[in-house]
Amino acid sequence: MRLTGRIGVVTGAGRGLGREIATALAAEGMSLLLLARTGAQVRELAEDLTSRYGVQTLPAAIDVADPAAVERVVAHAEQHLGTVDLLVNNAGRIERTERLFWEADPAEMWEVVETNLRGPMLLTRALLPPMVQRGHGHVVNIASRARAATRSGTYTGYAVSKRALSVLTESLAGPLTGTGVVVLDVLPGLVRTDMTLGMPVWNGVTEWDEAAAAATVITDAACGRYDDQHGTLLDAPALHRR
Ligand SMILES: NC(=O)c1ccc[n+]([C@@H]2O[C@H](COP(=O)([O-])OP(=O)(O)OC[C@H]3O[C@@H](n4cnc5c(N)ncnc54)[C@H](OP(=O)(O)O)[C@@H]3O)[C@@H](O)[C@H]2O)c1
Repeated sequence: MRLTGRIGVVTGAGRGLGREIATALAAEGMSLLLLARTGAQVRELAEDLTSRYGVQTLPAAIDVADPAAVERVVAHAEQHLGTVDLLVNNAGRIERTERLFWEADPAEMWEVVETNLRGPMLLTRALLPPMVQRGHGHVVNIASRARAATRSGTYTGYAVSKRALSVLTESLAGPLTGTGVVVLDVLPGLVRTDMTLGMPVWNGVTEWDEAAAAATVITDAACGRYDDQHGTLLDAPALHRR
């Protein structure tokens, strides 16, 4: 139990990769704030993790792109769980249809950008000050090469937001150097989830990467294994195969 007594925040924890990541962290003893818009999914996960691993869990149904909700939930978590050691910016969405940029719905594209970029910016902005003050913490951003977007010429909001998220990681790396706070991008590979199953571009794919690869790499990152790679991108399936 390498993370006993540590506190983590996992966004998009209700299903898919986030659920796997939260489960791996709880299995190492980490107490968790579990966020997603669908309350039933994070509540069910929280009960399951507490009963299986004896960790403290706090589920909350919020939209990560809502500044007031983020502020509220971070204050609530600090009060009930303690100072946060790890933030995993995993919550993400993608356009519901594969359309070229000039045929896509601008409102939907912007909602995708808000979730994938504004959400991580708000949570990171809220959680970094106490981490820097304590001289300890990890921020992990779930990155994407957005291969579906480049392959199909669609999903522009997703591609733009994920590229920008990696720029956030790079921008934070310099000023955080020497503070004890480590920021990393993690690439999960291509994992079979509700998101990818809903994307026609992946129809017919038979070989998927395991969600466990990202979950293991993030758990190891929380333990400090990749601190020397501060500010860089970790390719989870490649690291997992080693
Ligand atoms: N699957 C892959 O192959 C793959 C590859 C590269 C990167 N990624 C990235 O990995 C992350 C997880 O993806 P996934 O495949 O596990 O997708 P998923 O199965 O669709 O899960 C997404 C999670 O994010 C939550 N979420 C979405 N919008 C939200 C919002 N505005 N506020 C709060 N929570 C929100 C969802 O819950 P609610 O809908 O209930 O809010 C859900 O729990 C995403 O950032 C994705 O871009 C995935």
